Amino acid sequence: MTGPLDAVTAIHNAFRADIKMIDDAALKLARGDDGAGVKLERYRFFNEILSWHAKGEELAMFPLLEGIAPSVAEAYERDHRGLEAAYDALDGAVYAGDSVAIGRASAAFRFHSDIHLRKEDAHLYRILKEQASAPQLAEAVGVMSGTIPKDRFPEVVAWLFPLIGADDRENMTRIWQMVMPAPVFENVEKLIHQAIGDEWAELTRRIPTLRIAS
Ligand SMILES: [Fe+2]
Repeated sequence: MTGPLDAVTAIHNAFRADIKMIDDAALKLARGDDGAGVKLERYRFFNEILSWHAKGEELAMFPLLEGIAPSVAEAYERDHRGLEAAYDALDGAVYAGDSVAIGRASAAFRFHSDIHLRKEDAHLYRILKEQASAPQLAEAVGVMSGTIPKDRFPEVVAWLFPLIGADDRENMTRIWQMVMPAPVFENVEKLIHQAIGDEWAELTRRIPTLRIAS
């Protein structure tokens, strides 16, 4: 059954897929393929979402964890500051137009973010899953979603859904369907439909209560 932390898993999977694409583009660019610059540009929006996500974790998940397992979250907060430094290094290299420095900064950003996300999945979120109550987790996920500026929500859907697989799409959609008022969710349905095109059919097969027909 879908639980609130499945929303975090979906976002983490999207981060992994996106930073891979970004880093592959950076490597191509360093090897002289100027056409890869367009894909590399994804790093800007990637970082915006990463910042909202990290802020949400620091506002909601880390304080919750502190009450369950004191002093564990501190190391993850340090990781977040490291991710900000990794982004700054990449952004500086892009600004300087130095493709070798871009390649190096992008590889470091990807390596750190992959390790950080895996640690969170295997350790931090495992502790929360095992020891926090379902209402506590639902509330924390609600606070995390609140860090996304409302007017940017359509961009988040357009970013997220193409990057994730069928299970994550189903979980994310079910969670929104549960927590959003019906008229808001109707709009979100349209955004998801736009984001995944023909693959909407699979989502309606999994969630027959969706209103837009495939
Ligand atoms: Fe994190």
